[in-house]
Amino acid sequence: MNLIFYYENMDVSLSPTALTRQADGEVLARARNLTARYGKHTVLSDISLDIRRGEVLTILGGSGCGKTTLLKHFIGLMTPAEGSIEIFGRDWGTLDEAEREVIRARIGVLFQNGALLGSKTLAVNVAVPLEMHTNLSDDVIARVVRLKLHQVGLEQAAGNLPSELSGGMRKRAGLARALALDPQLLFCDEPSAGLDPPTSHALDDLLLRLRGQLGLTIVVITHEIASIKRIADKIAFLDKGRLAFHGALQQAFDENIQPVVRFFKEGEINGSV
Ligand SMILES: Nc1ncnc2c1ncn2[C@@H]1O[C@H](COP(=O)(O)OP(=O)(O)O)[C@@H](O)[C@H]1O
Ligand SMILES: [Mg+2]
Repeated sequence: MNLIFYYENMDVSLSPTALTRQADGEVLARARNLTARYGKHTVLSDISLDIRRGEVLTILGGSGCGKTTLLKHFIGLMTPAEGSIEIFGRDWGTLDEAEREVIRARIGVLFQNGALLGSKTLAVNVAVPLEMHTNLSDDVIARVVRLKLHQVGLEQAAGNLPSELSGGMRKRAGLARALALDPQLLFCDEPSAGLDPPTSHALDDLLLRLRGQLGLTIVVITHEIASIKRIADKIAFLDKGRLAFHGALQQAFDENIQPVVRFFKEGEINGSV
């Protein structure tokens, strides 16, 4: 990684599709016959799923169906009970600790609770991954932090504590931190949970803009129907621990995949559109 080069040459006005088009389709991460357990409790069974460069993949399913568990396997926080997870062409299970660190630096994660350090300013929070994973000087780190806060529209809030921000701003701050090391692959766990609809809509727009500008591949766990319709190129639908469907949303309706159709119908009736 060459962050100085990146910073000096970054053109934030790149056309939205310029970068995402270049190698669409390449598999960046893959679950192969993944089974996940907590003790004897099987949560996911025989999941095979590809994440492809440039796409926004949403992972859906009811509460407790294993979405976060799947994410934890993709980012190497959990080890499969059976099957395997490949990331950038490497099997997590075959990597030593140094190799795992390199892979982790290429993945951004926006955790559900934001996970910001409450006693530290936004600038300090965003600097954390840069201090942990790079040897960049304080001066360069400060410049990268400014750029990242600018990308999420928070440059004016660099000196604020998380508690001084709205929920939407905190999510964007978490996003700036997740993007600090210029990841290729970004995972977001229920980013719009707890946000009002306009704020949630704005966060979706931001994710799509960043995807276009940075050539990101984005995996979003969500059960917000409106959000799925706005951002998803593909959906992966978990039902009773199995992957009930993987493909375009329209295809799920065309093929009348029942768990998916029910999920959307019930969601619309309950007003989560
Ligand atoms: N650390 C854990 N220990 C034991 N069971 C867990 C743990 N984390 C999650 N579970 C269980 O695994 C299932 C799936 O959880 P999770 O992946 O968090 O679901 P989701 O993100 O879809 O709501 C749930 O039944 C949950 O209670
Ligand atoms: Mg979850």
